[in-house]
Amino acid sequence: MNKSSLLILCIVFLFSCSKDKVESYPNINCNQEVSFSQDVLPLINQECTGCHDNQNGYSLTNYENISANSKAIIGAMRANNYQLMPQGGPMLPDSVIQLMECWVNQGKPNN
Ligand code: HEC
Repeated sequence: MNKSSLLILCIVFLFSCSKDKVESYPNINCNQEVSFSQDVLPLINQECTGCHDNQNGYSLTNYENISANSKAIIGAMRANNYQLMPQGGPMLPDSVIQLMECWVNQGKPNN
């Protein structure tokens, strides 16, 4: 194997590692099981879907698109690398944001 193919292998390896890095929120204490249908979906419906039903860059309407965008959702709720959402604030209560973070920590169950 020559040097450049080795280099390409290394890059591919590094890239796949960072891509597979599990999203989790280690500082959150999740002592109860979060339900997607009972907790997460009603929260997103109430706070986000009015503006993100296929508008404003994100569709947040069902399990598939909410789980695929969970990092952006939490980032926006915490104004961490994303604009604060709900747009114009105020920031949601910490307990509400933690619900989302716990759901992610618990592996984003479709329950
Ligand atoms: C009142 C309407 C409104 C509500 C409610 C709202 N959004 Fe948004 N959201 C927007 C608009 C408009 C943009 C696009 C802003 C822009 O591009 O300047 C946006 C952008 C975003 C972005 C991308 C931000 C970025 O910095 O890239 C995310 C993520 C997002 N919203 C998530 C959410 C979540 C999660 C909620 C619920 C907690 C929510 N939004 C509630 C209107 C809203």
